[in-house]
This record gives sequence, structure tokens and C-alpha cells, in this order.
Amino acid sequence: MAQDVNSSKFVIGVIGTGTMGRGIAQIAVIGGFTVKMFDAQDGAADKAQEFIARMINRAAEKGQMSEDAAAIANGRLEIVDSLADLADCGMVVEAIVENLDVKRKVFSELEGLVAEDAILASNTSSLSVTQIAAGCAKPERVAGFHFFNPVPLLKVVEVVDGQLTAPWVADKLDAIARKCGHDPVRTQDTPGFLVNHAGRGLYTEGVRILAEGIAEAHQVDDVLREGGAAFRMGPFELMDTTGLDVSGVVMESIYEQFYQEQRFKPQAFIRNRMAAGLLGRKTGKGFYAYEDNKKIAPKVAAAPTDLPDAVWIGGQGHDGATILAEFLKGKVEIETGDKPSARAICMVAPLGRDATMTAIDLGIEAERTIAVDTLFGLDGRRTLMTTSVTDTGVRDLAHAVLAADGGAVTVIHDSPGFIAQRTIATIVNIASEIAQMRIATPEDINKAVRLGLAYPQGPLEFGDSVGAAKIHAILTAMHAFYGDPRYRPSPWLTRRARLGISLMTPEA
Ligand code: NAI
Repeated sequence: MAQDVNSSKFVIGVIGTGTMGRGIAQIAVIGGFTVKMFDAQDGAADKAQEFIARMINRAAEKGQMSEDAAAIANGRLEIVDSLADLADCGMVVEAIVENLDVKRKVFSELEGLVAEDAILASNTSSLSVTQIAAGCAKPERVAGFHFFNPVPLLKVVEVVDGQLTAPWVADKLDAIARKCGHDPVRTQDTPGFLVNHAGRGLYTEGVRILAEGIAEAHQVDDVLREGGAAFRMGPFELMDTTGLDVSGVVMESIYEQFYQEQRFKPQAFIRNRMAAGLLGRKTGKGFYAYEDNKKIAPKVAAAPTDLPDAVWIGGQGHDGATILAEFLKGKVEIETGDKPSARAICMVAPLGRDATMTAIDLGIEAERTIAVDTLFGLDGRRTLMTTSVTDTGVRDLAHAVLAADGGAVTVIHDSPGFIAQRTIATIVNIASEIAQMRIATPEDINKAVRLGLAYPQGPLEFGDSVGAAKIHAILTAMHAFYGDPRYRPSPWLTRRARLGISLMTPEA
């Protein structure tokens, strides 16, 4: 029935030629499709065509494609003046204004123009594909085809199945995506689809840490970049780059669309920062200050140098104490007895617990206790955490010994799960819930996040590399401490952690 995407007669229509539409048209002509572009605004499609030609010619100059191939690709692009000119398209994708009524109107008009078996796709990032399709006589041929900005560089696209989308439609979009050089991931039509849903954890836990007064924004970013988790950017750098006017709205929208699911809860300060114009790079001031669009590095005091006489290490039933002892060996006298001597400062390495409660449980003085995050080892930036009453002298002695080899140290206030533990656990938990809800397969969850968000690993891979049991322990401890449903472990995670199997294991 449906037209063959490999046929030379298969034509793709692109409606809306702004940021996204032009990117989609560019990869489609390079992928070998004939593309017809339409934009309601006079001259917009011409500008897009010039832009695409510049991009393609530049690729040829850089030797990424031959001059001939560039000329052929440019020749495949055609501008049309009306929707009626898209009648012969096998697939039309819209990338127009993000408004449900406008998108519905365009689709219902298109329906009467294109062939029975033509696909109608939407690049929407926040609207429901099912609701767009509901305005159509044949909703089964409507699907989401959600690209990321910049389209030619972020080589992943979400193929979104609406409630009524026929399986052949998404299969064909998969094939089109591959021909365009993109990796398709299949996702159900749920808020944020796959990438923006899986990406919630990094932001919402970051803002929660800030709201709770645990650490400064730059400390959170530093730890997540340099502390072993190896994110390319921390949540506050990301928000400053995207602009809080965009990220803040997405945060609120996904939270509301999931009926106030606590896992996605933003913090009240976000709205105030938006109102104050603290949007990030675009306003020169956000979580960081900018000069000529360059981030001004926050001032950080030099590390203290006086070392402690001795360090007592308390065990917490996981490998943290061993990692800490290994690190401190040769740097300072280590005590491992039941109780610390009077000369020692006390170091603990809790998992999902805070420093204060750990000191109380171990029966040691909270005034001379300090906690160290060992989840990602101690090769990268180290995180130290005080109890509510840690003596500043003790804090500085601990800081000095952890910085003695020249390594970077971040000192934060008490927090169940420090910065890295709680952020990674939140990210893994949300991804586990996506798998549990059958929104996407474990493979697609990882692929979408690696390619769409440029995380160093997919979230379920992150969970497996840290260990599902540790992630589960962090969340369970946080849930018990806060009593906040935000930290309840997903059934997917709980079962796999208890079975001792990979988080990638699908349901039987
Ligand atoms: P844009 O504002 O850069 O471009 C939209 C284009 O559509 C404009 O040229 C406008 O003249 C045209 N247009 C508006 N209404 C139209 C209509 N009724 N018929 C024909 N043309 C019309 O917008 P952008 O950023 O490209 O976004 C387009 C869509 O892609 C939106 O649905 C957005 O949510 C989605 N999206 C945007 C991303 C981004 O990072 N900008 C990422 C992923 C999805």
C-alpha cells in the first residue's frame, strides 16, 4: 500500500522552515529525498534554502561530501507556495509554531490534499501527538517525528506513536530517519516523549539541591562534570545555555502534564528567576554571570594545607570505607578501630544518607565528623560534606588531606546522597520508570539520552556501571529520610536490584 521510501519518487514535505524545519530539510536532501518546503511567512522558505545551501556547500568545502553530491542535494530542494503543492508527498512533517489549534488546522487541511497513504508527522516537542491527530479524519497515519536542535548534529529522532498511530507509520518514519543518517528511537506519546522525560532528573535534582541550601549552583556543576560522573555540562550550565525562559517552562509543563508527579517537581525560585530576567547567557546573567557571552568563573578559595594528626574511618557496609582508606594510605595516620581516638577527625562514606545521621548512628561526635562521596571513586573532584555541627577546623583539616595531592575538592552542606549520588540515582530511577511504563525499550532509552542529551552513558548503563543495588540503596535511604515520594524507587529498579541483574533486562 504505502509508498516505498527508497523509491526516487518518494517526496518529503516540510512545513515551517525555521530553526527545525530547515535542519530537517537539510538532512533529507542529503539523505537522497526530494524535499518540498512551505512556510506561511513571505520569504522565510527562501532564507531557509539559502541557509541549507550554505551548510551543504560548507560540508563540501570541508571534504565531508563531494562537490557533485552537494550540487545534487541542493537540487533536490524545492520551495512551494501553498499546502496544495505538497499533494504528491509520501510524508509531510510540520515544524511550525508550537500551538495545538494551528497544527490541527494545518493537518486537517493537508488531509484533503495528500494521498491516502501519506504520513503526517509533527516535530512537536511538548504537545500530545494523539491530540494533534484527534483533529484528523485518519488519525492512524499521524505520528510524532521529533528532532533535536541542531538537527544535522544531534543524530537522533524520536518516532512517537500516538494512541491510534498504525504500526506501519512509525516503521516507515524509522526507515526515513535512517536514510537521513539519523538514529530513530521509538517512544509512546507521553509528556516529554523519551529524551525530555529522561532528561528531567539532572535538572530537578539540581534545583532541589540548590533550593535546600546544600551547595551553590557552580558547585553542583563542578561535581557532576569533574567528579567521576563526567557530564559534559552540569544542570545550571545547561539551563543558562538554553535559557531559563525555555527550561523553566518545560520543567513546569512536564510536572503538570504528569499530574504533579513529585519526581519532576521544579522549585519555586525558578519562577522568580524567570520574572527577574535571570535567564542565562541570553540576558548576560543567570546562575552564572557572563561578559561578552563568556562565563565568568566564580571565585574559589585556595585549599587549606594543615593536615590532621589522624583520620578515623567509619564503615557503612559498602566499599566506601575501603576506597577512602586506600586513598588516605601514606597521606595521614589512619584509625579503623571501633571508636576514634581523641586526636582523630572522623571520616565516613555514606550511601544515600547524610553526614549528621551517619555520625549519630555510628555513635561518633558529629562535631568532628565529615563525609566523603566515594560513589565514583576519588580520582576526580572530591565532595566533602559537613554535618549540621561539624567544627570548621575539622572541615579544613579534612579538606586539606583530600586536596593534598592537588586534586579538586568541593565542600557542601549536609545532604542525603551528597550531589553526585542523589543526582545519578534520580536519573537512573526516572529512566527505570520509563522502561517500566513501556514508554521505550531499555536500548532506546540509553541511545536517546546519549545522542539527544550527550550524556557520557545512557541512564540505565549508568545504573549498571554504578550497580543497581547501590542506586536502590541511595534512593531507599533518601526516601526514608525525606518521606518524599519523589525518591521512591521504581519497581523496575527495585526488582532488578534485588534479582542482581542488569537494568537493561526486559520483562519476560
Ligand atoms: P521557528 O519559529 O524557528 O520556525 C517556525 C516556522 O514556521 C517559521 O518560519 C514560521 O513562519 C512558520 N510557520 C508558523 N506557522 C505556520 C503555518 N501555520 N504554516 C506554515 N508555516 C508556519 O520554530 P522552531 O524552533 O523551528 O520550532 C518549530 C517546531 O519544532 C515547534 O513545534 C517546536 O516546538 C518544535 N521543536 C523545536 C525545537 C527547538 O529547539 N527550536 C526542538 C524540537 C522541536
